[in-house]
Formats: sequence, structure tokens, C-alpha cells
Amino acid sequence: MTAGTAERLGVGLVGYAFMGAAHSQAWRTAGRFFDLPLTPDMAVLCGRDAAATAAAAEKMGWRTTETDWKALLRRDDVQLVDICTPGDTHAEIAVAALEAGKHVLCEKPLANTVDEARAMVAAAEKAQTKGVRSMVGFNYRRVPAVALARRLVEQGRIGQVRHVRAVYLQDWIVDPEFPLVWRLQAERAGSGALGDIGAHIVDMAQFVTGDRLTGVSALSETFVKERPLPQASSGLSASGSSERGPVTVDDAALFIGRFGGGAVASFEATRFATGRKNALRLEVNGSAGSLAFDFESMNELSFYDGTEDPDTAGFRRILTTEPTHPYAGAWWPPGHLLGYEHSFTHEVVDLVRDLAAGTDPTPSFADGLQVQEVLDAVVRSAAAGSGWQTISEES
Ligand SMILES: NC(=O)c1ccc[n+]([C@@H]2O[C@H](COP(=O)([O-])OP(=O)(O)OC[C@H]3O[C@@H](n4cnc5c(N)ncnc54)[C@H](O)[C@@H]3O)[C@@H](O)[C@H]2O)c1
Repeated sequence: MTAGTAERLGVGLVGYAFMGAAHSQAWRTAGRFFDLPLTPDMAVLCGRDAAATAAAAEKMGWRTTETDWKALLRRDDVQLVDICTPGDTHAEIAVAALEAGKHVLCEKPLANTVDEARAMVAAAEKAQTKGVRSMVGFNYRRVPAVALARRLVEQGRIGQVRHVRAVYLQDWIVDPEFPLVWRLQAERAGSGALGDIGAHIVDMAQFVTGDRLTGVSALSETFVKERPLPQASSGLSASGSSERGPVTVDDAALFIGRFGGGAVASFEATRFATGRKNALRLEVNGSAGSLAFDFESMNELSFYDGTEDPDTAGFRRILTTEPTHPYAGAWWPPGHLLGYEHSFTHEVVDLVRDLAAGTDPTPSFADGLQVQEVLDAVVRSAAAGSGWQTISEES
């Protein structure tokens, strides 16, 4: 079905900065490259400042605006609420939206605490019995190379998984004068590098291996303990004032872990890896082969097939732009590369197809809760001198 002829899906988006722009791009584009069973209608953009929200709506393609997210829940032209606000708002907005019968797409990490995430799962499960669905936005699963890695593991191409090595390295707060934006405040963000980028590598490692962490031992550090209070801030950029305040989150978190299937793993999430901008890397070593991915070369997957003749075996670079690769066929001819924004488009495509089919989207809120349990175990371990912490299996 082409865009415009299918039944509409009215979308209300909350937050219009970094993720708001990424999701807007996805809603604008999804139906123009993929055949969708429902036509996304960018019905309403919600912010708090009327003039700024109107300007953002005009720029990003939203029909109308609201300045209170509660208004979205009363609107008949909104069937789905897309939450692109900081973590301290996710639980309240998501639970209310689900109770109002709206589908929900919520950015990661699902919540700031395990308790909030549990409440969100309870609301999602209740809503699901009425056909109302929810998804958490771990978009990196939808990078074609990552989805291909999952497919190869599932097909047994690397055998039994032994090692998982995951890092997510950034450097945007190396400067001690970078201001105290919401991401550096525990009450807004829940945690620092751990929840912001560590959550992504936990989800990606579990997704690619099809397995789950059962326990961790961790340490974390806050290198810069005070920063200038922000004057104006949005996303990852801001200007500082002369007053200072305490940084209440981790700058870096490192942990080792065990997977249920027997693999051992290491994880590192930091905003202090000078020179590394968005180096999300995953390597998985199995009994029959290995896979490696680096987001800064996101159109490539490295694959070592241990069953090949040792004379010629070696890591090969797969350019993941063939029509047979996940998602790639809807875009350009082979070798014409995709970017960051495509992962969000793919997220929306999968979500819309699930909504139309009446199937449950993944990652679910329960998946988001399980990641939150891992983050919580990391925090507990780091606070307890790196002592081993098991991860609850209830989610
Ligand atoms: N999937 C990813 O790769 C990825 C990347 C970055 C951020 N995120 C997640 O997305 C979420 C938002 O992060 P961001 O980087 O877009 O932050 P941001 O600071 O760029 O934008 C936050 C937006 O939320 C708005 N907002 C805050 N409180 C609000 C409220 N009560 N009502 C309406 N609007 C409100 C702000 O005005 C702003 O527009 C966070 O959960 C973050 O962890 C995910």
C-alpha cells in the first residue's frame, strides 16, 4: 500500500529536540520508502513553550501543537504517543497514555528506576489486553548490520557464544567547563553514561546473542564532580553560568557479566573517551566464528567463519546494503550507504506493521524493564565495591 491510501495512524510526539527531530524524520520518511499498512499522520507536536513548539512543528512537519502532554491523551486524532523527553517524565506520560488507550513508543532507557519501569510494564500489559501496544526505542537493533548479526547468530553461523565485548565511547563532557545539563543530573536522567549509552550496549548484546545477562560485577566513576549550571540547554549542547553544581551521575561505568547460555562479557560506557564520538562497538566470539560491529562504520559487519579453510579464513567486511540484508532493500542500490536516522525509520516501520497486524512490537516494555534490572545491578555492584550482583529473572 502506498502512503496516503492506507488507514491513518495519528501520532502525537512529546519533545522536539534531539530525539524529537530523529523521530520526526522517521515518521515523515517511513511510509515514503516502505510499504506501510497504516499511514502515519503527524498530528501533533507537544512541547512546553508555545512559540518554540510551533516553530519546531513547522520545521519538522507536524500539523498542530500542544503545550501540555495531557492534551494528547484527550485528542481523538492521536492513536499513538511518542515519548522523546528526559527519563524522569517517561513513566508518568507512558502510563497515562496507555490508560487513555494510546499506543506508546518510549525512548530509552525505559525509565529512571526499576520501580518506574515495573509500573510501565504493568500498564503495558493491561493495555495490551485491549489491543493497545507499546515499544521502547532501542533503535540500534534496527541498524541493518546489527540485525544481520542477530540473524547470523540465530542461524548458528558462529556456533556457541563464548565472549561478548561491548563498548560505547563518547567524549562530549571531557571539558570540565561543560555545563551541568539534564543528562548529568540523577533526578532527571536516573544515571549517567550507564543509562544513556550503557543501556544501548546491554540491549544490543542481548539482542544479537538472543541471551540475557544473569549477573554483573561493576565499577563506576565521576571524574568531574562539579560543573557550571546551564544557562540554556538542549540535548548534548549548552552554555554555562558562573554558578556551579554537583554532578550526580556516573561519567563512566564498566562491568563484566555472565550470560544465561554460558558466555562471559565485558561492557564499558563512558563520556570521557577523548576522541571517540559515538563508538558503539560489539564483538561476539563463538565456537564456530565471530562477529564485530562498530557504529562509526555502521554499514559494515565483520564476520569470521571458523569453518573455512585456515589458509584463506579471515575476518571479512560485509557491506550491509544488499537487498537481502535487513531493511536495506527499501532504500538505495547496493553500496549507497545508510546513516544514523535510518535506524529510527526502521523502528517506526516495524512498529506500524505490528500495530496493523495486531502483534506485539519489540523491544517491549518488559524488555526495557529487564535492561533496567541490569543497570540497577551495575549500580548496586559499583556501590558495593564491585561485588557480584545477580539480575532478577522476573521480567
Ligand atoms: N535512541 C537513542 O539513540 C537516543 C539518543 C539520545 C537520546 N535518547 C533518549 O531520548 C530521550 C530524550 O533525549 P534527547 O536527547 O532528545 O533530549 P533533549 O534534551 O534533546 O530533548 C528533550 C526534549 O524534551 C522536552 N521536554 C522535557 N520535559 C518535557 C515535558 N514535561 N513536556 C514536554 N516536553 C518536555 C524538552 O523541551 C526537549 O524538547 C531520553 O530518554 C534519552 O535517553 C535516545
